[in-house]
Formats: sequence, structure tokens, C-alpha cells
Amino acid sequence: MIIFDVLLLITMAFIAMSLIYSTIKLGISPMPSSKKAYKAMLALADETGTGPIVDFGSGWGNFVIPMAKRNPQRQVIGYELSLLPWLSSRLLKKIGRLNNLTLYRQNFYQVNLPAAAVIVCYLYPQAMHKIKHKLLTKQPKVDFLISNNFALPSCQPEKIIRLDDFYKSPVYLYKMAKIKG
Ligand SMILES: C[S@@+](CC[C@H](N)C(=O)[O-])C[C@H]1O[C@@H](n2cnc3c(N)ncnc32)[C@H](O)[C@@H]1O
Repeated sequence: MIIFDVLLLITMAFIAMSLIYSTIKLGISPMPSSKKAYKAMLALADETGTGPIVDFGSGWGNFVIPMAKRNPQRQVIGYELSLLPWLSSRLLKKIGRLNNLTLYRQNFYQVNLPAAAVIVCYLYPQAMHKIKHKLLTKQPKVDFLISNNFALPSCQPEKIIRLDDFYKSPVYLYKMAKIKG
């Protein structure tokens, strides 16, 4: 019994340390999008054609898993650096046999995006500045950006969905061709 308790304690400590480490290193925790938010993101993704959907920081898979299930013909890609969320989303992908979903343990700032890509994210204000810079200077092939809660600085969204929550939280859809001008 004592051995079991010790093993449980070590496991819990490892989980906590791993999540704290990645949160400090990346500047954001793997907090998932709410159900209302990911449903709004799915609805906006429906308006973006058939290009690959790329989640910048796919976390526990709260967006990519339902997205891949709902659109088996569409390629869905997630980039996530935090170990435990990435492992758990990989497990969910395997269980759901989602062959159209690919999950990379990679820094999304350093990847090349496929043509006609649709970026999805739930990050924080400074990250939105960096993403804007990446999309405008290095990744001209991106067609759309969908962002939960955080706007792309100084850019006019194509559409905003206000969630039915306390803050009336926004989910933004940007058409990159209009932003590039
Ligand atoms: C708030 S969570 C959102 C998770 C998921 N997209 C969702 O909507 O449920 C943001 C995630 O981005 C990941 N992240 C932050 N910066 C990253 C980077 N440069 N490369 C890969 N993942 C990153 C974090 O580890 C975290 O899991």
C-alpha cells in the first residue's frame, strides 16, 4: 500500500511539474477552449473552404479532435510543445482512429504551413503580434485565421461570434487576403 501511495505521489508530482514547466516556458497554460468557444470555432471553420486546418498550440485536443471527427475529408494538424497535453491528444487520436489528424510536438513559430491553410489559435496578446508578423512576412499561403478571444492587432475581422458567456467573449475570423491588401 505504501509503495502504491509513493508511486501515486511521484506520478502526481511529475504531472504537476511538467505542466508548470511548460506553462512558464511557453507563457501560457494548456487551458482548453470552452465547449461554446470550440463550437464557434468549428462553425467558423465551416466557412473556410477545404484547406488544411492548423491549430497553433493544440493542447489536450479540445478543438482538433472534434474538428477531425466532424470533417474526415479535411486535413487537420496540431502543433503542441507541452508533453502531457500532446501525449493525451495523441491517445485520443488513436482511440478515435482519426487518420486525417496529425499531431506534432513542435514549436508552431518554426513550421512551414501548407497552401490554403486555416490557422486556429487560443493564445494571448503578445503571441498574436508574433503570429501576425509570421503570417504577413513568412507565410503568404495562409488563407484564414480563427482566434478564440484574442484579436489580431490592428486588423479588421471578417466576422466575430460573441459567445453566450459572462464576458460575451469574441471568436474572430480573419481573411488573410484582405489583411495583406
Ligand atoms: C490555451 S491552450 C489552447 C489549446 C487548444 N488550442 C484549445 O483551444 O483547446 C494554448 C496551447 O498552446 C501551446 N503553445 C504555446 N506556445 C506554443 C508554441 N510556440 N508551440 C507549440 N505550442 C505552443 C501551449 O502549450 C498550450 O497548450
